[in-house]
Formats: sequence, structure tokens, C-alpha cells
Amino acid sequence: MPTSLSKAFRAFVKLSFICCLFVFAVQAQSDLRPLHLRVEYKTNAFVDAARPRFSWELQSAVPNQVQTARQILVAGSVTLLSNEKADIWNSGKVLSGAVNQVEYAGKALASNKTYYWKVRSWDKNGKAGPWSEPAYFSTGLLQQSDWKAEWIGYDVNALSVNKNYHLPPCPYLRKETAINGTIKKANLYVTALGLYEFYINGRRVGDDYFAPGWTDYNKRVYYSAYDVTGDLKNGKNAFGAILSTGWYAGYLGYALLVGSPVTHSFYGKVPLLKAQIEIEYNNGKKELIYTDASWKAATGAILEADILNGETYNADLEPEGWKRAGFDDAAWKQVQTYPAKAALPLQLYPGNPVKIIEEITPVSIKEKSGKYIVDMGQNFSGVVRLKAKGKKGDTIVIKYGEMLHLDGNVMTENLRKARATDTYIFKGDANGETWMPRFTYHGFQYVEINGLKTKPAVKDITGIVMSSATPVAGRFETDNEMLNRLYKNIVWTQRSNYFDIPTDCPQRDERLGWTGDAQIYMRSAAFNSDIAAFHTKWITDLNDAQWPSGAYPVYAPLPVGANGRAAIRSSDTFSPGWAEAGIICPYNIYKMYGDTRIIEQSWPYMLKYMAFLEKRSKGSHYFAEGSFEDFNPKGGFGDWLSVGRKTPPDMLATMYYNYCALLMAEMAGALGNTNDADHFTDLSQKIRKAFASHYTDADGKLKTNAAAYGDGKGYVDGHLGFSGHTQTAYANAVYLKILSPENLMKAGQYLSALVRNNNNQLSTGFLGFKPLLPALSATGNSNMAYTLIQDTAYPSLGFEVVNGATTIWERWNSFTRDKGFENNAGMNSFNHYAFGAVCEWMFQNMAGIQPVDAGFKTFMIKPEITDSGIHYTSAVYHSIHGKIAAFWKKDSASLKLQVTIPVNTRATVYLPAANTGAILCNGKPVVNSTDILLKRKKDQRYTIVEAGSGTYEFTIALHY
Ligand code: BGC
Repeated sequence: MPTSLSKAFRAFVKLSFICCLFVFAVQAQSDLRPLHLRVEYKTNAFVDAARPRFSWELQSAVPNQVQTARQILVAGSVTLLSNEKADIWNSGKVLSGAVNQVEYAGKALASNKTYYWKVRSWDKNGKAGPWSEPAYFSTGLLQQSDWKAEWIGYDVNALSVNKNYHLPPCPYLRKETAINGTIKKANLYVTALGLYEFYINGRRVGDDYFAPGWTDYNKRVYYSAYDVTGDLKNGKNAFGAILSTGWYAGYLGYALLVGSPVTHSFYGKVPLLKAQIEIEYNNGKKELIYTDASWKAATGAILEADILNGETYNADLEPEGWKRAGFDDAAWKQVQTYPAKAALPLQLYPGNPVKIIEEITPVSIKEKSGKYIVDMGQNFSGVVRLKAKGKKGDTIVIKYGEMLHLDGNVMTENLRKARATDTYIFKGDANGETWMPRFTYHGFQYVEINGLKTKPAVKDITGIVMSSATPVAGRFETDNEMLNRLYKNIVWTQRSNYFDIPTDCPQRDERLGWTGDAQIYMRSAAFNSDIAAFHTKWITDLNDAQWPSGAYPVYAPLPVGANGRAAIRSSDTFSPGWAEAGIICPYNIYKMYGDTRIIEQSWPYMLKYMAFLEKRSKGSHYFAEGSFEDFNPKGGFGDWLSVGRKTPPDMLATMYYNYCALLMAEMAGALGNTNDADHFTDLSQKIRKAFASHYTDADGKLKTNAAAYGDGKGYVDGHLGFSGHTQTAYANAVYLKILSPENLMKAGQYLSALVRNNNNQLSTGFLGFKPLLPALSATGNSNMAYTLIQDTAYPSLGFEVVNGATTIWERWNSFTRDKGFENNAGMNSFNHYAFGAVCEWMFQNMAGIQPVDAGFKTFMIKPEITDSGIHYTSAVYHSIHGKIAAFWKKDSASLKLQVTIPVNTRATVYLPAANTGAILCNGKPVVNSTDILLKRKKDQRYTIVEAGSGTYEFTIALHY
């Protein structure tokens, strides 16, 4: 927002607030106040949806408060809005409790406009509250025909002289234009095929990195929008951009490692820029400045820039003053235009852009045979900013690693073919030079610097932490320090891997949107951050990557080669537990945020996938006859990186098939589509029946005999040794809801026996660990779940923590004291969120916060409080309805449970005491409390209460 406009806007906000107070005083209104106004999950941002969705949270001091009606006003100017002249939309008073996913239904929105809006709510007594403070949203370029800009580029591929890698320099592009008149408003719409930084009059626009993100660039390209009113001036203005290959033309994944015929330039060879500045003058005149053949190009200081391989910068080659007006660009070349790309659909970036989210300082710097080893104290994604002095031509080389070898050297073997090296060449500034790479990132804790003449000081090295800037939503703490560190490690791993797309890891030659990892971890992620916008973006990537067969891929985006196969060779194109991300991820957005639009948008893809599963299940070569084959799609990676006996992938495939059918039924219901809801409910019943008859013994045991698996002799893809009687099998059977109620409890017994007989330890991989603790909890084995979460022996998450981990490891044995890094040659990431999926259990079971209705309109607080050595747990989750908190503390005499329930929601709280006489609510006997509803006791172990908004403290006498 330009300073002048933002000043006026702020003054207006202040005035409205004073007016509100005044009105409130004279009218004795309701105190129900809408706060945190957002459109499409964002605050005062650009949107390009035709019917954007509004949301707000409510505040009121009155307990049990709800919204019974609401009114939204949208106006074309602040003044109109303050006068309640809604020239764009006046929703009128609508009887509705909805405070989110409320669709705009006013006049058609125009491109490149700012709209101001406010909302008010009526309370449970039908009294109106004050108007919210005003908010705004701006529209992007809504029609493709709004784009006058052309794709421009500068092909410097011939300048790549590097032998091992193809790494051309970064093109610099510029243009000068005179502006005459007083500017009322100017917006920049900008994108690239590749990555870009855009400059106006020397200043970089925005603080986003890695824009415009990774998509299937053949299907859609995202642009970003910025208000640049304050950046322009009367007279000559200079516009500049630096381009880099990025995901578009750079190296991707493990293509080099596996000898793929394509290793880089998956989508195109030349990075391109498209930018358009829309200027509106005070006198109403409009003007466009945009990229076209008149722009000029050259190369500069950035000699190489590649996401996986790093950046090389020769400071002496930076053309002094090129970003400012008056620079002599006579020697610069004319750009090329790329009309063939003109048809690419452009859309506004829907996610949260990558930003610098934190800066950290080293914890130690050690000299080692002429190089310096810097310990940042934390594994993370990003780069370092370095301040140093050197003579012209002096060179420093920076390498990155996650761990140290025993001899103190940085361990880089697990980066595989990712060069991950940055190089800086000094220009010789006597005052020192400061540099940070911008078109690459690394996953690291340790930095090795070669070429420095003197030891750097701690203040000369800064860790630049980068991540998709998803707003923080969760907090979690207990009285167990190991668990607190584990939670931090989970959060750091999420920050490192929520990087435009959900990546598997940030360090090696991979960094792909692996679908299995993403679906396993997503619910956990949602408790930590508001990931609605982030995952909406990636679900589109996933839908774009669906195979023609209907199978979702094993990673998305999925660069596809000319032969239609994944260009980065993938061991399979379909894998149960991975592919289902296409169903599970939209479901999670629905369940956590009450978002049905994501279901509508994904529905055709999801139906196609279900049809694929159906087709794949039939006529399998494993089972020549019988009805079971109709319900088993088979295949895939199975319980990836398991440390126990292998669970047959075909069995897991059937469980996931059932889970998808159940989620599809629920989502169809949310759309009001009863036909599909019935169809998928019926399908689930059939799958469950087939599963029971094929895989389950009479005593509910999952079969151990080989005949049940793979080829009928126990061989799965040529390998023997699978068993259905595993932790993974039972945990998934429970979590994925494939068992009958009788078999469910039996599965719990088998599961707990398997854990017990395994020295009270886990023996799972990716697919098995996520449901392990939830399944134990769901079958009355909370104590055992607590034992596992507190375990610090190998294999466990605690083992990583006590071995100094600051993020979650890919493998249970990524590092062990006796065997060191035994898996480095293959794959061994120290920043892989898959096992962090236990976070879901921490929030949903330890703290007990679980959604019931979508979007936490109603929810449960059912903490599992055991004699496990944990004496308190405190969790906060900022839901789309507002802040939910659950805190419990236990001593020998009593248990205290404090819960916060947001306005306009209801929670069912489970108090672990059968006798209501033992319970106080806010200091009064719970039976006398008028604020809450005592529900009939279904479960003898609990007293169940239902409560509306407010904060409640329950005290339970333990030996009553
Ligand atoms: C990735 C995983 C992924 C797996 C599937 C690995 O290379 O890092 O996290 O799910 O491949 O095969």
C-alpha cells in the first residue's frame, strides 16, 4: 500500500473505531465484534477469484456467544464504506452463523481495483454488534486479455562453460520510461518462467523469494501483484529484473543421480519475464508500462544460479547503477520476445510466498586446516549472508551440510549430486563486502567456508531462514524437555520443507513434492501453521499432475518427458499411500477450514482417481479369481523405510482404498451430493467386507500366512517375508477405518502386544508410524502411546533428540553412534517431515483438540491423561474460528483442565472422572454450572460437558 493511501486508510480505521465506540455507548449494542478480516485466507491482499471468500473471527466478553446473522458491505472507496454506501455489495442482514467461506455475491469485480469491506454480526439475542474495522482486498488481472505485456528473455545458454553442470549466468533486463503526472495508484503484476527479482528505481519490489513458485508451467503460471505507487516518481523511472533458471530451466530432483536423459531445462531452456505496471494518475488518466521488445539485456555479477547447485557471484561484474535511471545501457542487447508462450494461462499466486522468516547467528566458528566450519545451531532451509573483506578477485567457496563427520568436517555425501556450493568473488571494497545468494537455497546446519584470510566473527555470518510464510497457528508444550525439543524439531522441519511446495527434504538432489510424505504429514502441519493457502496451491499442482489413467503421481509437480513418463525417473507411477494425497489433502483442507471449494475444484480429479482404483483392482494377475481382487489396487512403496517385518503393500493398498471411499462419501455429503455419498459409502462397505474375508482370521488377526499376500505364495514383486501381523498393518487398519467394531478392539490388543513384544518399541516406516500412536489411543492403549513418544532408545524420535537432532530425520537410523552414517550413499536426509506426523497425535490426543464439524465449528477437547510421567500439556491452535486452547496439569491430588473455546463455536469437553461430584467448573460444582451443558455419560471413564465460547477451568479431585 502506498504511504499516502495507507495513511488515509489508517486515519479512516481510527475514525471508524472511535465512531464504533460512540455508537456502542449510546445504543448499548452487542459487544460482538468481528476481527481478523480476511479474503481467500489473506489479510488486505490481492485476489483473483470471481467470488472471493470472506472470513472473520468474533470477539465477545459474553459466554456462549454466537453469530445469528451478519451483514457485509463492499465499497469502491474508503469514504463510501465509511458512509455505509456499499456501491459494490451490500449483503443485507443474512441469518447465518457462518463466519468463514462466505462467498462474495455482489457486482462483478473488475481487474486492478481495490475494494474496501466491513462486516457486522448479530448476537444470540438478535442484537447487532459494531461494524468491524474496515479491510480491503485488491483484484489482480482477472482476464487474460488484461495482459499487454510480452514474455521477454535473453538466451545466454551458450555462455555456460561449466563441464559438470549446465549453469548459464543470470540475465539482467532493464527499461527506462518517463512518467508525467501525479500518480494516484500503481500496481505491478509480474511473473517469470524461472525465478525473478524485480526492481523499480533501484529498490527491489516486495520481499518474496522463489517467485512465482513451481507449477506445471505448461498448464499455468502464477504472477504476483504489488502496490508500487510509492516507488514511482515523476520523470525518468528505471525498471529492472534479474532472472534465474529456477524450477523452470534449472536442475530438478535426482535426475542426474539416476542418469535420466533430462537433468535440467525440464520446462524450457531460457528463463523469461513478463511484467506490467498499471498506473492511474490523479487526473484519471491511465498508463501501462510493460515488458516488450524495447527492453534491454545483459549479464552481470551472477555467473551461476541454480536451486540445487548453488550460486556464483563475481562482485566486480555487477554493472554499477543499472537499476537506476540514467544508466548507460548502450552496450546492452535487445531482449528477445517469446510470442509462442503468450497463451500460457496466468493466475495470481494462491499460496504463501517464500520469505525470509528469521535470521539466526552461528553458535560456533572453528578453524580447520585453512577453512572455517560454522555451526548455525539449527538445521534449516535458506542461505547465509556473509560479510567479509578481500582483494579484488579473492574467492570464497561456501559448502553446506547437515551433520559433521567425527573428524569435524562437514558431511556432504548425503547431498548426492546436488553441488550445493556458493562462490563469492570479491571486487576489493576496502570497507568490506556483504553478500547472500538469492536464487538457490540449501538445507543445512553447518557451513564450510574456504578462502577467507581471517577468521570471521559471529556477527559476520547470518543464517537466513527461508520458508513459505504460512502464518503460525499452533503452540505446544509439556513438562518433558525432550518432547518440547521434539516439537520444535517438527516445526523446524515443516518450515524447511514447506517451501512453495511440500518437499520431502531441502538438502539433496531431490526436494520434490512427494505425495506420500505430504499426505502423511498434512494434518500435523495444519496444527502448526495456517496451511490453507499453501496447500490449496499444491493441490492444484497435484491435480495438474494426475496421469491420464487417473492415478495421482508419486510427486507433484511432475515434469513429464516427451514419452509421457516422468522425466525424473521414478520407480513407479502409482503407489498406494502416496497417490491418495489427491483425496486426503483436499479432505484435510475441508476438515480443518470448512472449505468446500477445494472439494468442488478437485472433485472431477478425485472421481477419476476412484475410477482408476476400481479399474486397477479388477483382473489383477495376483488373484485369478474371487471377489477380493475387485477391491485391491495393489502396488507401491509399501511401508517405506520400515525397520520391522514388511507389511504387504497390497494390504495397505486395500486399506487406503477404503479410506478414500469414506472420505469421498463425507466430502460428497458436504457438497450435498447424496448420490455420490451413497455410492462411496456402499463401496467402503464392500471393500471392508472383502478385506475382512481375505486378510482377517476368525479371531480378528491379520493373516500371517503367506498365501494371503502378493502372488498367493507370499511373494510381493519377487520378495518374500511379508506379514499382515505387524504394527503397521494394525495401526493402519484402525486409522483407515477398515475394521468391524469387534475387530477394532482386537486389533488394538494385537497391536499393543506387538509393541510390547518388541521391547515397547516401534517397528514401522512412513506409512506405519503416522497411525501408530493414534491407533493405540483409539483402542484404549494411551499409556503405550505415551511410552512410545517418550522413548529415547533406537528406533524412536526421542533417539534423534538425544543425539542432538534439531529437525526430524528421514530414517530411524539416519545416524547411530555405532554405525555412523551407514545410509549416506543412498538417501539419508536429516530434515524430512514424514515421521513428524506424530504431531497430529500430540495435538489431537495429548492435548485432545479434534475437529468434529469441518472448520472447528464444533470440536472436541478430549485429552488423554495417563500415569505416563507427563504432568502437564499445553496446546494452542488458532483455528479458522479463532483461538482454541487446552491446558492440563496433574498432581497427586487433582487435575486441572483449562480450555478456551472461540466465539461462535461449541466444544465437547471430556473430563476424565466418572463422578461429577469430584468436578468443579470455574470454582463451582460442575453440576451447578449454568455456563455449560452436562451431557449424559456415554463412557464410564468420563464426564462429558458441552460448552460454548469462553474460558473454563475444570478442577477434578483425583481421589474423590
Ligand atoms: C523420498 C521420500 C519418498 C520416497 C518414495 C524418497 O526419495 O525422499 O520421502 O516418499 O522417495 O519412494
